[in-house]
Amino acid sequence: MKKILILLSSLFFFTACQYEVIKVEVIPPPDPNVELSFATDIVPIFTDGNRCTACHSPGKTNPDLTAANAYQSLMDGNFVVANDPSASLIYTYPHPDASTHRWKVYTVNQAELLFTWINQGVKNN
Ligand code: HEC
Repeated sequence: MKKILILLSSLFFFTACQYEVIKVEVIPPPDPNVELSFATDIVPIFTDGNRCTACHSPGKTNPDLTAANAYQSLMDGNFVVANDPSASLIYTYPHPDASTHRWKVYTVNQAELLFTWINQGVKNN
């Protein structure tokens, strides 16, 4: 009986000590020589899970970041300056390091995608 108890408690001990290894996915920065697509690389940053479009949509806060209007809205409001990320509010404002936009900030990878797209000349592709 004692043996069984020891066996049982040691079993509990070992299972209790197991922990899951949380894998952090490291996403490599985008290759500046590979052209990004506004529609498939940038727009989902704004629209997935309503991340930005919850507030930045028609009739709400400018810029309108919905798929249909994002490009025009960014251009019209001068939220983006081709080849100059530091002058582009769409890059600087929700940037994780610099943000005063307390609502939502980019992940590092999202910021890198914006940075690369701007340096590739803000193409509507
Ligand atoms: C909960 C609502 C909300 C969400 C979500 C949100 N924003 Fe905003 N955003 C605002 C409000 C309100 C303002 C204007 C006031 C301010 O500066 O905070 C603003 C301002 C901005 C501005 C500057 C506009 C200007 O005229 O200066 C940019 C750029 C911007 N948001 C981008 C984004 C992006 C990109 C996302 C998604 C990553 C996002 N926002 C998510 C509410 C939101």
